[in-house]
Amino acid sequence: MSTISQGDRYDVVLYGATSFVGALIAEHLARSPQEGRPFTWALAGRAPAKLEALRAALAAAPHPPTAALVADAHDPEALRALCGRARVVLSTVGPYAQHGEGLVRACAELGVDYCDLTGEVHWVRRMIERHEAAAAASGARLVMCCGFDSLPSDLGVDALQREAQRRFGAPLGAIRYTLDAARGGFSGGTVASLTGALVELAGDPAQRRLMASPYALCVGSRSSPAPATRQPAVRRPARDPRDGAWLAPFLMADINTRVVHRTHALRAHPYGASFTYSEATRAGRGAGGWLIAQALTLGLGALGAALLWAPTRRALTRWALPRPGEGPSAREREAGFFVVSLWGEAPSGERLGLRVQGDRDPGYGATAQMCAEAALCLAFDVGGASEAPGGFWTPAALMGEALVGRLGARTGVRFEVVGG
Ligand SMILES: NC(=O)c1ccc[n+]([C@@H]2O[C@H](COP(=O)([O-])OP(=O)(O)OC[C@H]3O[C@@H](n4cnc5c(N)ncnc54)[C@H](OP(=O)(O)O)[C@@H]3O)[C@@H](O)[C@H]2O)c1
Repeated sequence: MSTISQGDRYDVVLYGATSFVGALIAEHLARSPQEGRPFTWALAGRAPAKLEALRAALAAAPHPPTAALVADAHDPEALRALCGRARVVLSTVGPYAQHGEGLVRACAELGVDYCDLTGEVHWVRRMIERHEAAAAASGARLVMCCGFDSLPSDLGVDALQREAQRRFGAPLGAIRYTLDAARGGFSGGTVASLTGALVELAGDPAQRRLMASPYALCVGSRSSPAPATRQPAVRRPARDPRDGAWLAPFLMADINTRVVHRTHALRAHPYGASFTYSEATRAGRGAGGWLIAQALTLGLGALGAALLWAPTRRALTRWALPRPGEGPSAREREAGFFVVSLWGEAPSGERLGLRVQGDRDPGYGATAQMCAEAALCLAFDVGGASEAPGGFWTPAALMGEALVGRLGARTGVRFEVVGG
């Protein structure tokens, strides 16, 4: 085990290490070779006994955590002390809108890099508005949405546009994302975060209107103003223009599209002000595809309505949905996978596509790999303040190519250019 003297900083502190997804991230960090480079990391959370149990379980791994740090998410002094021990903090403590701001504030004020797994877009916007000035002054780089929402979308668009520039000397004016196939499940933490966001927005029409904009995250001092281009959205069954297969709405589209447009805005619109982007679930061809698309559309609508109405929400969370700390079993995660396609047309009419696939369930097995590697990328691959100043970034805007390379070399998450 590596040792660290008092006052030294760990390369990565994993806050919320005892959450369902946190334990999977801890396992990934403890088993990842660092190519001979010294690497120190620590577990952190609110419950000392749970942290020590996790530390003991990882003791025989090749790179066990060096320490376990204790801090409650609502104790500002403890969070500042935790930040004082970290170069990068990776947080899984959610719902983020409920528990996340204290840590973001501490990182932004103390100049500590931060990444997380949130998909709570309204909270991300609030954090940018409240803490961007502090992050710019301290040099902290904050990167949210480093899980299945939104790495395949954000890094995928970035990689596809790089390839389009290389082949055609021009970006693609429109990109479509389809979730082609996936197997996995949900955790109690995801259900709590999704429900929290739905309920908060339902009670706040002004905020709901802001979040309805695809450009909801084009805010803050480093973002270009949102363009006026109307964005397409798949809200009901529709045809895939590639081959006529049926498409249905995708649960994560309203998160991922906002992150992709923020990346575009942070870079001053390199894909053009009229760039459009949409996400959908591919249901299949013919009558079977139509039926699946109808069922997915109705199912999503019904789930949203049931989570919004308190009596059905209570019944669902008590009887049908996983509770905090629960999620897909090891067997389900290992049998899980995902396949995503992104594609667009060059000005010449030629199609270009990119496939993103993972060999674990998207929400937990693959997400743990993705955000662990995002934290390592932030610690080891991202340059200093002159190259990447402090502020709220997106995964692609800060780490694009480096993170795609890391994931391909060290995990089962692959980005591969294919035909259109
Ligand atoms: N973007 C994606 O693709 C993606 C994928 C998966 C998950 N997520 C998000 O990741 C988050 C975690 O999900 P999960 O299922 O792993 O959640 P979970 O198992 O319910 O864990 C929640 C964590 O928060 C900690 N916590 C709660 N209150 C706290 C406080 N006051 N101080 C310190 N820690 C506190 C809990 O600590 P204890 O262990 O001590 O109870 C636990 O570690 C959720 O927001 C979820 O939506 C996102």
